[in-house]
Amino acid sequence: MFLVNKLYFSFLSNNQKHCVFLPHKEIFNFMKVTYYGHSCFGVEICGKKLLFDPFISGNEKAKDIDINKIEADYILLSHGHEDHILDAAAIAKRTGATIVSNFEVVNWLMKKGVEKGHPMNHGGSWMFDFGKVKCVVAVHSSSMPDGTYGGNPVGFLIETKEGNFYYAGDTALTYDMKLIGDYKQIDLAFLPIGNNFTMSIDNALIASDFIKCDKIIGMHYDTFGYIVIDHKEALNKFNNAGKDLFLMKIGETKEF
Ligand code: NI
Ligand code: MN
Repeated sequence: MFLVNKLYFSFLSNNQKHCVFLPHKEIFNFMKVTYYGHSCFGVEICGKKLLFDPFISGNEKAKDIDINKIEADYILLSHGHEDHILDAAAIAKRTGATIVSNFEVVNWLMKKGVEKGHPMNHGGSWMFDFGKVKCVVAVHSSSMPDGTYGGNPVGFLIETKEGNFYYAGDTALTYDMKLIGDYKQIDLAFLPIGNNFTMSIDNALIASDFIKCDKIIGMHYDTFGYIVIDHKEALNKFNNAGKDLFLMKIGETKEF
């Protein structure tokens, strides 16, 4: 069955790789995730390339990643802090990707010469050609690198015919995450685990209960001194709770 679907998929041209054509989502490895360090991930889903929170050229740990080789159809930004948007304008200008973020972040980047932007805010959703993006609450702050107002930080709930996932952005543990878990079945979640600026490992474990998702990709850890974590401890805590925590290597690609 898997083979049949893969073949079916390969017959479709890029434009046709829209989710509505894809049957039996449960049989697919529904998404291909590449880690670019800190909170930056590329996600290939429904024939489109999504890039989240690109902070690469300023990240010593990601020095082997060449931002000029990263492809993107959409760049989703959780908030205006430099460790989430540093390379967004450069990648958007080269690829023609659409920036999806809060109103203030999108406007700021368009003033920097980015051509395509889609502004959103908490509670709103929009149907894109890969699926539906719902903009959800993140408890954090948001200002642009030049100090201008960066709107409110957001998380993204992405619903597609190939599966649903949640990208939390920078956030504290919040009871609002229960709403996300009640609202949709989530197959995979990207949660910050580095503590100090965001949730810790322990709080991320509680968050995974709130969102009812046992497959977690950790982010926002190890990049700088404040957020260094003990990998073994993190993996053990999730394992003991019967959950999977993935701490991907920078540059690694994995199918989920
Ligand atoms: Ni931040
Ligand atoms: Mn951050």
